[in-house]
Order: sequence, then structure tokens, then C-alpha cells
Amino acid sequence: MRVKIFKNEQVAGHAYKMTLAAPVIAKFAQPGQFVMVKCADGIQPLLRRPLGVHNVKGSEVEILYEIIGEGTKLLSQKKSGQALDIIGPLGTGFKFPKGSDPCGKNILIAGGMGVAPLLFLAKKINKSQVLVLIGAKTKQEILCKKEFKKLGCNVKVVTDDGSAGHKGFVTDLLQDRGHLFKGVPAMLYACGPKPMLKAVSEFSKRRKIPAQISLEEHMACGIGACLGCIVNTKSGQKRVCKEGPVFDAREIIWE
Ligand SMILES: Cc1cc2nc3c(=O)[nH]c(=O)nc-3n(C[C@H](O)[C@H](O)[C@H](O)COP(=O)(O)OP(=O)(O)OC[C@H]3O[C@@H](n4cnc5c(N)ncnc54)[C@H](O)[C@@H]3O)c2cc1C
Ligand code: FES
Repeated sequence: MRVKIFKNEQVAGHAYKMTLAAPVIAKFAQPGQFVMVKCADGIQPLLRRPLGVHNVKGSEVEILYEIIGEGTKLLSQKKSGQALDIIGPLGTGFKFPKGSDPCGKNILIAGGMGVAPLLFLAKKINKSQVLVLIGAKTKQEILCKKEFKKLGCNVKVVTDDGSAGHKGFVTDLLQDRGHLFKGVPAMLYACGPKPMLKAVSEFSKRRKIPAQISLEEHMACGIGACLGCIVNTKSGQKRVCKEGPVFDAREIIWE
């Protein structure tokens, strides 16, 4: 569908937030789902780019993205009032406690731009029960801390260079908070680089705490047709764009 761009602004370094008037996507999107975006009106680049649903406000949908290559560079040059061709919402998102469901402890773990789909998830869970662990390379690259706090979440940050929060990896924060999980039902939700997701999965296995992880694979179609985004799981090959991008961490066979 073609939707109108309300805003497209730089929020930090190479990170941009785009707000779209997209009532249909806003109505049906679930946390962890994504959209396939056509970054230019011509034929180059040919393939759409997958970007997570970052937030939904009424009939507006936000996407948070960083400039990586040609597609996201072109996207960053789009102006308010222009139209954008997108397909979505796509994929299978996070499973989370709804309404009055017993909630337990919900720990959201974000590495770098992995923070993008987790804000929408935090919005849907009982906030007093949400701990958000954000990891980034530097202080300037920490995104959404304010937004999570505004929602009432408990937020901890960590940076590779120690310029904000502790120095180290976001998974160190998880190890430090191992005591929080004693005797309380807990769920980990993670999005970020593969080594981080692997470390979260190992923690989840060791501590017997369930984890849902959002995987990234290069995608051509985004709708389950091309088999270009296969991941190996204990129950066979799965499509990241269809059965995922969110998977039970225990299911994934890591290379
Ligand atoms: C389900 C899903 C959700 C995502 N959500 C976000 C998000 O919310 N914000 C964000 O900044 N990024 C997100 N990404 C990563 C984003 O799709 C890539 O950074 C983007 O496609 C890069 O395109 P490019 O043209 O700028 O870069 P190029 O390097 O020119 O891309 C070349 C090709 O590789 C693919 N590609 C490159 N990097 C990735 C990657 N990490 N994952 C998948 N395909 C890749 C592109 O789609 C393209 O086909 C997500 C990826 C997936 C799979
Ligand atoms: S991208 Fe085509 S099947 Fe997943």
C-alpha cells in the first residue's frame, strides 16, 4: 500500500525515525512484526527492505532505522508529505501477557538498533513488570531510553566504551540480574546482533528461563515465497519472514 510520510527525522548519529499515516497497519500490527519498504520510486534498489514496527500511535506507525547501505540512505532522504510504498504488517511477532494475564518478570534486551521493535512490545505489557536492558557502542548510540522510562519501565544501559552506564555487553547486565528470576515466572525478549542473541539463548538454556528472540536474515520477498531467509531449528527449516522473525530461543540451532 502507499502511505503518507508525516515525519522523517534524524534522532541520533545514523538513526532516523519515520512516522507514517498507515491506519491499516496501525490496526493490525503486533509487536515484533515488520514491514517491507520500497526505499525508492525507481527500480533501484529492486528489493524492499525489512524494518520492524517501532511504535503505533492511533492511525500512525513509526519505524526506527539506521543508515546501513543504499536502501536506508535513500529512505533517510524522504521528506514529509511524500508517499511510501510498504507491505505489512508481516511475520510472527512476540507472544506476551495481555490485559489482566499474570505477568511475572518481563526482561527486554536490546542490542543497538535491536531496540526498534521492543518499544511497541513494552507498550503492550504491564509496565511495572518490565525491565529494559539496552546495550550500545557509545552513549550517543543509546536509543529510546527516555521513551521506555516514560512508559514506566525500569531501564538499565550499558556501552562498549563505558561512556554511559556500565562498560561491557548487555548480556553482562543479564548475568548480574540473575537473582531477579528466582521463584518468579520470567520471560526474556531480545533483539540485536546475532552474537548477543546467541548469548541470551545460552543464558536462557542454562537458567531455564524462556526467551523469545527476533532474528534478522537477508530477505527478498518478506512474505514466505522465496525461501531466502531460512533458519535451522530443532523442528526443521523455518522462514524468518513467516514463522519468525521472533522464535523461541530453545528452537534455534546456532552455527
Ligand atoms: C525482520 C527484520 C526487521 C528489521 N528491523 C529493522 C529496524 O527496525 N531498524 C533497522 O534499522 N534495521 C532493521 N532491520 C535490518 C534492515 O533490514 C537492514 O539494515 C536494511 O535492509 C539494510 O538495507 P540497505 O539497503 O540500507 O543496506 P545494504 O547493505 O545495501 O543491503 C543490501 C541487502 O542486504 C539486506 N540486508 C542488509 N543488512 C541486513 C540485515 N541486518 N538484516 C536483513 N537484511 C539485511 C538488505 O535488505 C538488502 O537486500 C531488520 C531486518 C529484519 C530481517
Ligand atoms: S524472504 Fe522470501 S521466504 Fe522469507
